[in-house]
Amino acid sequence: MSNRMKVIVLAGDGIGPEVTREAISVLTEVASAFGFEIETEDHLIGGIAIREKGSPFPEETRNACLESDAVFLGAVGTPEFDHLPPHERPEIGLLALRKALGGFANLRPSKAVPALIDSSPLRREIFEGTDLLIVRELLGGLYFGTPRGFEENRTGGYNTMRYSVEEIERVARVAFESALVRRKKVTSVDKANVLETSQIWRETVSRVAKDYPDVELEHLFVDACAMHLVTGPTQFDVILTENLFGDILSDEAAVLTGSLGMLASATIGSNIGLYEPVHGSAPQIAGKNIANPLGTIASAALLLRYSAKNEAAAAAIEDAIETVLDEGYRTADIATENCRQLVSTEEMGRLVCERAVANAGIKTASHTV
Ligand code: IPM
Ligand code: MN
Repeated sequence: MSNRMKVIVLAGDGIGPEVTREAISVLTEVASAFGFEIETEDHLIGGIAIREKGSPFPEETRNACLESDAVFLGAVGTPEFDHLPPHERPEIGLLALRKALGGFANLRPSKAVPALIDSSPLRREIFEGTDLLIVRELLGGLYFGTPRGFEENRTGGYNTMRYSVEEIERVARVAFESALVRRKKVTSVDKANVLETSQIWRETVSRVAKDYPDVELEHLFVDACAMHLVTGPTQFDVILTENLFGDILSDEAAVLTGSLGMLASATIGSNIGLYEPVHGSAPQIAGKNIANPLGTIASAALLLRYSAKNEAAAAAIEDAIETVLDEGYRTADIATENCRQLVSTEEMGRLVCERAVANAGIKTASHTV
């Protein structure tokens, strides 16, 4: 990667703009501390794009994204458009963006941060040591399968779940490659006792596994996986699953860490990476400067890791997040009774930024000796 990158910023709806603002200042400042420049450009997506341009994914947003090195997204969705059919809602803008960029593997890491263990809904002894990565297939399944629609007069509705061997194989490879640099275990999640797509999924994943003899593969039905996530999350390393199952399981895995606001995601597989927090637009707390920006800031770290290929810069941000939490700073969603420092979205962003830039100083200094 050259020392200059162009990132399209799609702040979107609800808390999107406030958490994105913090993440982008961390991103650009840490990048420049590491000696490269990130140029950003703002565009519209979701509800705000419907309001201002009449479309949830305007043509100019699409074109800007396709000419960028990476896309950074806040959140989409607003209750104002809840009455619209699926194909006109803000969320369709995000799905169109994902399709346009072509990244098919959505990585959603979930890890027990020692300082936050008491914010987890799980008992300490169950959650401690959890460190898992969900690899969610992002361009197939019920989200995109056709035919889809309503019966005449809305007497019913239908969607199609369809997966080709090729779609399964490419995302399975991402899961096995990820496992190789982690604890070398893949849990493939399906519903092969009921669904044909899941039987093809299971056969294909088992075949791909033969190319990765050092990685242990297990298969789990999605209902059992949902249960194991809350009874024994430490058993998981990489969880590989299809689009809708991954959507559901990743919210569950995220909240184990104490708050949905903590989790980041990266979508890879094409030349243009897409980075977004796992949480939604949280309209009920939007504009109050109380949202947790850490999942969004952690998504900026993933951008540095996967698109800028700068592991040290990514780690500088991830370490800074842990430091700030160790120091006792909390946004409202992760504050416990005895929490020392309740901070706003902006304060949390600034605290992480300062520490990340300081980490960069240490790392770049140690490079030169
Ligand atoms: C997510 C979100 C999206 C999804 C919505 C907003 C379309 O829930 O990224 O998990 O379902 O993929
Ligand atoms: Mn979701």
